[in-house]
Amino acid sequence: MRRLLPGVGGEGTADLDDTGLVEAYRLPPGRSLRVDFVTALDGSVTVGGRSGGLGSPGDRRVFRTLRALADVVLVGHGTAAAEGYRPVDADPSVAGLRTVLDRPASAPVAVVSRRASLAPDGRLAVPSTLLVTCAAADPDRRAALAAAGVGVLVCGDDDVDLPAALDALAERGLEQVLCEGGPALLSAALAAGVVDELDLTLAPALVGSPDRLLAGALADVVRPRLVQLLEEDGVLFTRYAVDR
Ligand SMILES: NC(=O)c1ccc[n+]([C@@H]2O[C@H](COP(=O)([O-])OP(=O)(O)OC[C@H]3O[C@@H](n4cnc5c(N)ncnc54)[C@H](OP(=O)(O)O)[C@@H]3O)[C@@H](O)[C@H]2O)c1
Repeated sequence: MRRLLPGVGGEGTADLDDTGLVEAYRLPPGRSLRVDFVTALDGSVTVGGRSGGLGSPGDRRVFRTLRALADVVLVGHGTAAAEGYRPVDADPSVAGLRTVLDRPASAPVAVVSRRASLAPDGRLAVPSTLLVTCAAADPDRRAALAAAGVGVLVCGDDDVDLPAALDALAERGLEQVLCEGGPALLSAALAAGVVDELDLTLAPALVGSPDRLLAGALADVVRPRLVQLLEEDGVLFTRYAVDR
């Protein structure tokens, strides 16, 4: 993987090993919400209903690096279900990189679900998982998940209040949040003005999927600023800063 921007003399074409990639994505201490997505050139985020068809070895390395650097992985229930989410340390390469970085081998997965849809007998119904829901969610579902050990965060009355949810995560020491989507959650996070960074992988593919980066039109155009661009095998790895 090579760095195209920012280019510093001869460094511009240097191969980034795992350590270089960690440094390329490391954040300063403090609270942040960074969003990671892979899209085709036409904005499609799925092939046949899942993101895997857009993946590449470089994208998987970036995905692992971002997970290794995160305090918590935030994901919408639609994505957790479609992609068969498991706890972070189920992937030994992420756990291994986190250990190398002197971090706990795992990070919690926080599933956002207005309806508390997480299955109480599913793979994510473990004590490391957090459910981010609201008071309107079925109390029996919430109780069943709590009984399975899931940490239930009630943030908001009729819908999930994302700023309140991020405050609740920060109160637990989970300050650096990696949001892995999907489109509904990204749209809500942009509308709530809580996104600091968008890390978009652009796969050289045209798909024409109905699943796009955003679930619908935003009330205001958001104009992220490109701060970093890496490339491998024709795949572009962007880091955009989003001004709140
Ligand atoms: N290419 C990529 O990088 C990428 C990344 C992520 C996802 N995807 C794809 O995107 C698709 C899923 O899309 P999606 O829009 O359904 O995903 P999503 O945002 O993950 O899930 C939507 C569901 O999550 C909950 N949710 C999301 N935002 C919420 C909010 N602000 N407040 C309360 N609940 C919220 C709701 O669950 P309840 O209905 O339970 O209340 C909602 O129905 C999948 O096919 C996945 O493969 C692709």
